[in-house]
Amino acid sequence: MIRMLGIETSCDETAASVVALDDDGAPQILSNIVLSQIEDHAAFGGVVPEIAARAHVEALDGIIEAALSDAGVSLAELDGIAATAGPGLIGGLIVGLMTGKALAVASGKPLLAVNHLEGHALTARLTDGVDFPYLMLLVSGGHTQVVLVRGVGDYERWASTIDDALGEAFDKTAKLLGLPYPGGPSVELCAERGDATRFAFPRPLRGETRLDFSFSGLKTAVRQAANAIAPVGEQDVADICAAFQLAVTDTLAERVGRSLSRFREDYPDLAAPALVVAGGVAANTAIRATLETLCARHDMRLVAPPLALCTDNAAMIAWVGLERMRAGLGNDDGMDFVPRSRWPLDEAASPIIGSGKRGAKA
Ligand code: KG4
Ligand code: ZN
Repeated sequence: MIRMLGIETSCDETAASVVALDDDGAPQILSNIVLSQIEDHAAFGGVVPEIAARAHVEALDGIIEAALSDAGVSLAELDGIAATAGPGLIGGLIVGLMTGKALAVASGKPLLAVNHLEGHALTARLTDGVDFPYLMLLVSGGHTQVVLVRGVGDYERWASTIDDALGEAFDKTAKLLGLPYPGGPSVELCAERGDATRFAFPRPLRGETRLDFSFSGLKTAVRQAANAIAPVGEQDVADICAAFQLAVTDTLAERVGRSLSRFREDYPDLAAPALVVAGGVAANTAIRATLETLCARHDMRLVAPPLALCTDNAAMIAWVGLERMRAGLGNDDGMDFVPRSRWPLDEAASPIIGSGKRGAKA
């Protein structure tokens, strides 16, 4: 059995976890502790990097101690330490990676510098044992991407947002309508009471053969609609939310559908072709239902890990450490690694224009 400590501090969650891999290859999450900073940032309507970094410094040692004691594992019993080294907010990344390095020096264990996006990409193997290759749709506050996952360390980005991330579009729409942060759950809740047909919002990039996403036009349309009927009442807000969410699900169905078609063409012989979702937006019931229908239409299965492992956590970071160690990609240069606020999974892909402006969440 090998045991890995994971540390995650790239955005507004301070997290630590111990994950084990049996000799027969079965993974086991021994502990998984996540401290959310949502309340620290709520008053600002978004994550404030300086506040996030300070909160990580204050909490991280206690969170790591708790993860080790929950798992009943001592530092000496670990086989490695995996810390998120990017992409994300640089202050938080420095806190997590330096703590990982200090623990590695003190314990003599190897340090693995992990890409946060790889954590999201490989989670479905931890939770559902999904075999390569598969497609991943990452929809979070900072990223909207479709990635072909061919193997550990072997990724090809097929699509990304050319402007706002999907979670960001939910958050901005909520802010505009005076709904509480984080916006996604607020918009979803309001949408339930709304009439989605009252406003006709755009379906950005619809019909284009490229696979990318765009959400900033949708946000602008929401602003214009709200301004046109100001002051907006409760029912107006509900109707706008419903129309916004419908535009989002329609857009995802069309955009992601193209990626699924390509995947099926590129890999016609897979026994169980899968689309894996990750990121906080995957909590949205309407979006999940849309993806279920879409996958069924393409004869694929939708793998949605439990929400606690879809959103930011350290179990996925420990898991990347184990996968990399098992694949022999483990412990080359962790101690020398410098945190990277930008670190694409697919280094060969062209830079994402405009996206990640927030430079924050993944
Ligand atoms: O993955 P996550 O917890 O954090 C990172 O971005 O890394 O995702 C947070 C994002 C926020 O933008 C939030 O508004 C969105 O996920 N979100 C939702 C829902 N729950 C969270 N968006 C739509 N519907 C939801 N139910
Ligand atoms: Zn993330």
